[in-house]
Amino acid sequence: METAIRVDNLIKVFTNDQGELDVLQDLSFSIASQEFVCLIGPSGCGKTTLLRVLAGLLPPSDGEVFYPGRQTQNNIYRVGFVFQNANLMPWRTVIENVLLPLELEYRSSADNRRRAVSMLELVGLAGFEKTYPGDLSGGMAQRVAIARALINEPEVLYLDEPFGALDALTRERMGSELIRIWQAKPVTVVMVTHSISEAILLSDRVLVLSKRPAQLKLDLPISFPRPRTLDLKHTKTFGSLAGEIRRAIQV
Ligand SMILES: Nc1ncnc2c1ncn2[C@@H]1O[C@H](COP(=O)(O)OP(=O)(O)OP(=O)(O)O)[C@@H](O)[C@H]1O
Ligand SMILES: [Mg+2]
Repeated sequence: METAIRVDNLIKVFTNDQGELDVLQDLSFSIASQEFVCLIGPSGCGKTTLLRVLAGLLPPSDGEVFYPGRQTQNNIYRVGFVFQNANLMPWRTVIENVLLPLELEYRSSADNRRRAVSMLELVGLAGFEKTYPGDLSGGMAQRVAIARALINEPEVLYLDEPFGALDALTRERMGSELIRIWQAKPVTVVMVTHSISEAILLSDRVLVLSKRPAQLKLDLPISFPRPRTLDLKHTKTFGSLAGEIRRAIQV
């Protein structure tokens, strides 16, 4: 398996008026190309910070992030980012929101519009192109955010608790939709979640971080075959994986 991202002794320290805040402490791990990895850890431990460093939005304080598929060290992948809130612009229609990343790169064309329409189909929102965000449910808004993150055809998709604000049933549906999208597009996924069962159901691997400063507590492969169903939750193996993750979070 080709390595998409390799993190070596990564350290992140924020400096402000009050002094220094150690957030990421000596993290080392690799993520394979087209792997689906979930990050889990206590609130405030540095998960969002880690995603931002991996995506190249923040520089490391020390250590390195390599993208072995790329020639030079800082030549990062095309990335898509989905935030906890959909962060849609309320004055733009659904399709105008999806097209925004391309407009910011001055890449407006009729072809882009066709691409945006097909992304909206992919996330199950065909027919909602001209709707405004105010008329969407939370789950629909988050689908638009996923379509917007995919419009650039990212090689790595970062999702920061994308379903945190949704009710349990919508959340389960969005999880399986995300798997469908991931299987339809060749993309590496790194997703932060607070839900242990969501992490086990969706991912190939769960990385558990300690409380701040975040260290890697557990690197747990999830080898259930796909397609997976919700019934997995009632199996013994699922229970023992969940227990292992819970214990790692608590220590
Ligand atoms: N730009 C910044 N400057 C200074 N401190 C920051 C900055 N960004 C984050 N922090 C601090 O770093 C720590 C980790 O924040 P981060 O948002 O990465 O945590 P998190 O694990 O994503 O938390 P949550 O689960 O609540 O989303 C927090 O104490 C936060 O206040
Ligand atoms: Mg966060």
